[in-house]
Amino acid sequence: MDAQVQVLVGAQWGDEGKGRVVDVLAETADVVVRYQGGANAGHTVMAGGRKYVFHLLPSGMLYPNRLCIIGNGLVVDPEKLREEVNGLDPSPEKSGTRLVVSGAAHIVMPYHKKLDALGESARSKSGFGSAIGTTGRGIGPCYVDKYNRTGIRAEDLAQPDVVAKKLRLNLDEKNLILEKIYGEPPFEFDGLYETVLEWGRFIAPYIGNATFELDRAISSGKRILFEGAQGTLLDVDHGTYPYVTSSSCVSGGCCTGGSVPPGRIDRIIGVAKAYCTRVGEGPFPTELTNEAGELLRKNGAEYGATTGRPRRCGWLDMVALNYAVKVNGLDFIALTKLDVLSGLDELLVCIAYDVDGGRRETFPDSAAVLERVTPVYRKFTPWNEDISGCRSSSDLPEAAREYVSFIEESTSSKVCLIGVGPRREDTIRIF
Ligand code: IMP
Repeated sequence: MDAQVQVLVGAQWGDEGKGRVVDVLAETADVVVRYQGGANAGHTVMAGGRKYVFHLLPSGMLYPNRLCIIGNGLVVDPEKLREEVNGLDPSPEKSGTRLVVSGAAHIVMPYHKKLDALGESARSKSGFGSAIGTTGRGIGPCYVDKYNRTGIRAEDLAQPDVVAKKLRLNLDEKNLILEKIYGEPPFEFDGLYETVLEWGRFIAPYIGNATFELDRAISSGKRILFEGAQGTLLDVDHGTYPYVTSSSCVSGGCCTGGSVPPGRIDRIIGVAKAYCTRVGEGPFPTELTNEAGELLRKNGAEYGATTGRPRRCGWLDMVALNYAVKVNGLDFIALTKLDVLSGLDELLVCIAYDVDGGRRETFPDSAAVLERVTPVYRKFTPWNEDISGCRSSSDLPEAAREYVSFIEESTSSKVCLIGVGPRREDTIRIF
């Protein structure tokens, strides 16, 4: 792989197995950067016989002598960050890997989580079917404050007077909402202020300027990997709004949230599962609510890495994937969990949607239209072989090769990597 600056994005509804692919790509990267989202993400990486689930840390933290950056586009829960840093083995001091948290990243406060939960509950009770099924990590409310210009940023934590002013401003507003709208007890300033100052002491050594760090790294020829979280169809602008997260998950998000100028990006890779999953609410045209869906869930261990919720499972949707190719400008696709399709009685792929009396191959802008579509399927020949030992495309059974070729042809993108099992080494690397 000879691209200096690469971006990796989820090409579906999140949970595509990005942690695993980043882990493979991070082997040859000097710098790994997260650029959006927060502890709603759950990137699972198996290394040294141990399973790590990173919610905030870039997956490159497991390699020695790397620079890992938490960009300004993230919303950071300091307690979660501390848990993850403390759980690293070897520790960053021993591995020589340096963590930098952008001072401009926003801090998830306890009231954000509270408001997230209360908002969800109010939406589900509203009777309009508008619950989003959030992860409850305070993501939406924290981004609301960011865009409302009232948020508390990482750089504020080490400045007691700044943080005191911002906290009072926020509590004045949040407590009114909690008490008057939800009938909930208010947050007390004193306890929260102490907590925040303590977070400041923990986070201060990591605070840095991501723009200068990256500029220096790129200018000195270092290889950079941007690690997207969630997925294209959960992007706040390009996803199935309102059933989305509150950040820019697409490749463009790394310029605003990860401080890289657009012209410095050399390669964009989309991670797609060989089938589809979704957690939370929202339209999912190829969802299987029958035994086949159960089987995918069981074989693919499709339970949320962050919330443990069972994921909704369904067939691969090429209309959605082709949309992701276009929105992100994908150069390559990393195809994960192909092994999960082994041994199925039937194997289908959605190639178009029937809706409102017509057929379309383009992804609708509106979630309401997406709710109404009927998928048009193409049948593929299933295979029975265990493919977890395959290390090159030619090791795959013919039917599996056909499946991969079909994805390449219909997206006009090359598949650069195929996941054939849960371990780091269960990977077919094509470049
Ligand atoms: P939030 O990001 O917690 O606000 O949740 C908004 C929507 O995005 C919900 O449907 C979540 O289930 C979904 N979501 C958030 N993060 C992830 C993720 O990492 N993987 C899959 N779905 C996610």
